[in-house]
Amino acid sequence: MGYFGRLKQAVSGFFPAHTREDKNTKTAENTASPRGLPNIHILATGGTIAGRQTGAGPHYQAGEQGIEALIGAVPTMRGLANISSEQVTNIGSQDMDEKTWLKLVHRVNELLTRADVDGIIITHGTDTLEETAYFLDLTVPSGKPVVLVGAMRPANAVGADGPANLFDAVVVASSPDSAARGVLVAMNGNVFEARDVTKVSTTAVQAFAAPNFGPLGQVHDGRVFYWRSSDHRADHTSARQHPEFDVSGLDMLPAVGIVYGHANAPALPVTALVEAQYRGIVSAGVGNGNLYHEVLAALADAASRGIAVVRSSRVAAGPTMRGIELDDARYGFVAAGTLNPQKARVLLQLALTRTQEPGEIQKMFDYC
Ligand code: SIN
Repeated sequence: MGYFGRLKQAVSGFFPAHTREDKNTKTAENTASPRGLPNIHILATGGTIAGRQTGAGPHYQAGEQGIEALIGAVPTMRGLANISSEQVTNIGSQDMDEKTWLKLVHRVNELLTRADVDGIIITHGTDTLEETAYFLDLTVPSGKPVVLVGAMRPANAVGADGPANLFDAVVVASSPDSAARGVLVAMNGNVFEARDVTKVSTTAVQAFAAPNFGPLGQVHDGRVFYWRSSDHRADHTSARQHPEFDVSGLDMLPAVGIVYGHANAPALPVTALVEAQYRGIVSAGVGNGNLYHEVLAALADAASRGIAVVRSSRVAAGPTMRGIELDDARYGFVAAGTLNPQKARVLLQLALTRTQEPGEIQKMFDYC
């Protein structure tokens, strides 16, 4: 029986009901873990958490330090878990791409089927961390904890936040209460769910927020406290549906672009994506996903040609509602709900691996 299984037995009755099936934690018959601690594997991808300041000034380069150096800076984490690690890549997350997403998810899924892996941490740049987190949230079926972590200050900066964030990530990944919550993000003492978390500051260490549903919990003094379940359907009447996308046979994803809305917006970005044969377009519209009339006409034309069009909003919080200000059914559009444009793009890419039909895609946006 695995570490979490043994702990669950010891505290049976304490465990909350989770909304996501805890497949691998149920089935994995673990090997005995040394010292009775969970086995946590870290996959490193770079970012400011691995960044280095070169001179006296603030200038730094992301993705400079290897994972061993980051682990070495936080020796106390070894009191929480048996730590192993590997370097997947070492890049600034502005350069994150689908090839690396697919490499990551294949490795994560391979590791999580192993009985001697109880949880995974992924170190990542903060710029696109939310997209990788949501991509994994939709493609990792295991209920074992998967936690993304980054930092806003480079590893050798005064007041570097990476070591504390990495320690917190180990706390979160090692906690049985983190199982079956989907992919999590540990940043600056908060724990967020992948779906809602977004970067809200370019520079502050409190760089992330979950604008629609708030953080799932917090980490204090080496313990994680969850305030709520991961059920974020607007009406809270039923558990989160979580159709997993099987990307095991894929080496690329359908092309989906984002067009940004503003006053007097031109149709040009839409027509460029249509001409480039993109299979999907996400609109970061104004307000409740509204569109300048020329952009509306171009998107309606794109939808009539079979290109999947999803309406999201450039506004930080609140849902883009289907059929309220704009007749989505008439235009063949899909409404993104509370997914921001960059998350809507991730879901649309995965949805398009199954169907191009707007009604079917809308169902996925309603439930993912
Ligand atoms: C990056 O996303 O790689 C750079 C910024 C950061 O990690 O905070």
